[in-house]
Amino acid sequence: MRRVLVPLAGLAALCALALWQLSAPKALPPDAFDGFTGHPKAGELVFHAAGCASCHMAPQSDSPELAGGMRFASPFGTFRAPNISAHPVHGIGRWTVRDLGNAMIYGTSPAGQHYYPAFPYSSYGRMALWEGGLQDIADLHSYLMTLPASDSPSEPHDLAFPFTLRRGLGLWKQLFAQQAWVTPLDTENAHTLARGRYLVEALGHCGACHTPRNLLGGLQTSAWLSGAANPTGRGRIPPIDALEWGERDLTYYLKTGFTPDFDSAGGHMAAVIASLSKLPESERAAIAAYLLDLAARPR
Ligand code: HEC
Ligand code: HEC
Repeated sequence: MRRVLVPLAGLAALCALALWQLSAPKALPPDAFDGFTGHPKAGELVFHAAGCASCHMAPQSDSPELAGGMRFASPFGTFRAPNISAHPVHGIGRWTVRDLGNAMIYGTSPAGQHYYPAFPYSSYGRMALWEGGLQDIADLHSYLMTLPASDSPSEPHDLAFPFTLRRGLGLWKQLFAQQAWVTPLDTENAHTLARGRYLVEALGHCGACHTPRNLLGGLQTSAWLSGAANPTGRGRIPPIDALEWGERDLTYYLKTGFTPDFDSAGGHMAAVIASLSKLPESERAAIAAYLLDLAARPR
């Protein structure tokens, strides 16, 4: 008996150690932002392209105060967006640019804990693959610090056990938050398409809503942007991988929310358009180029 149990216990301990190691939070090197200067004006565009306000603004508020409070229903429980205003205690006023980089690229908090993927770092993490990605984070950080501070404390999530244990998210990240582009690029028209891919796959986190998820909440990249169940449980989010729209219709929709049939964007897409409408026309054109290129690909 002993001869079996002792090695088994040893094996179990080794497995536990391996899982513990695999689930360790990752962080950028300490000098990752050395030599970077953030520019708030440029950061404002990153902020809109990434739609931070659509989740972090207090519900029913139109002030630029990122006080948090919005609820997100999911099969694992209800998440609450935290206060990310410039408040030194209740917000992120004391965060360094590297703290923000670790949160966005690795989903790691300043205290070294994992964030839940309701914060779409599995998309933002692709900023690490883009040449100007770190500069965009430095710009975003300097912009966030110009916004008003809110003293409303962040509210706790309402999750069921075992989802309350953040450490387990490390394994989830190993499976579903790997930093890789979803669509390979052709060389033709590569500049606009590459920009569009950055805006769609990284900043705009379009996949977070438009791509179906598996039972563990990971995005099924093999069905990229092919439509998904609405996480609220009501209705479906439409596919955007095979749009039969003209380029002008699409850029017009991304700016105004009006579809070619004179319908207007509703639900969560209205908030996405509110952010996209603040970008220069060239950015919406790059998003449209990416989506139309995707639609033209054989499947
Ligand atoms: C889809 C909704 C959503 C979007 C979009 C979003 N966030 Fe969040 N964010 C969340 C949620 C939910 C959390 C809480 C995660 C947790 O507790 O693990 C969070 C957490 C954070 C935190 C950690 C705050 C803390 O107190 O530790 C920061 C910082 C943050 N977000 C910044 C941003 C920025 C900057 C953007 C835009 C680039 C952004 N978020 C976009 C939902 C979102
Ligand atoms: C927070 C969830 C969410 C995110 C993020 C999101 N969308 Fe949507 N999108 C929706 C919903 C919901 C609809 C349906 C809107 C409606 O019913 O009017 C929609 C509709 C659309 C449509 C119209 C499709 C049709 O056939 O009518 C397009 C195009 C689109 N989204 C593009 C995008 C792009 C590009 C991004 C990223 C920059 C994006 N969406 C990000 C939720 C989202």
